[in-house]
Amino acid sequence: MPVRFMLNGSPVEVEAPDNEILLDTLRHRLGVKSVKRGCETGECGACTVLLDGKPVYSCLILTRMAEGHEITTLEGLRDDPVFKAITLSFAEHGAVQCGFCTPGFVLTAYVLLKHNPSPTWSEVAKAVEGNLCRCTGYKKIIEAILDAAKKIHTHSNDDSQDK
Ligand code: FES
Ligand code: FES
Repeated sequence: MPVRFMLNGSPVEVEAPDNEILLDTLRHRLGVKSVKRGCETGECGACTVLLDGKPVYSCLILTRMAEGHEITTLEGLRDDPVFKAITLSFAEHGAVQCGFCTPGFVLTAYVLLKHNPSPTWSEVAKAVEGNLCRCTGYKKIIEAILDAAKKIHTHSNDDSQDK
């Protein structure tokens, strides 16, 4: 039976074995390469996607469980101003080294800033505790997310003064 769900705003229909995990379907059948295979046991966060707007580990979800849901990956956020602010801040703060963990961190940060536009250091640290990075030591990532929040805030203030 094909599985049908929304992927980055477009409907997809994909044939996948009942025991196939969403991570494999996204990468190998649908060509979504931003979703990374790390631990495959729900510990590293490299495979994070948004399921109906909430971050989940795609290595822990069977593809058939996505039936009827909305899956979002980095590819679906390219024009989003919050996403753009986060990626710009990651670049400016050196929060990307090998980059393997970055998609997962960016998606987690995106959900955080959508729900909490002015997080504290400890709120950011708590939000990203399900994502592992072996390169950066986390400080630069947290600084980048805090700076992205400032950028978004400044941008929205500028917009409202233009009106
Ligand atoms: S690959 Fe899914 S949590 Fe590590
Ligand atoms: S930048 Fe290499 S694992 Fe995070």
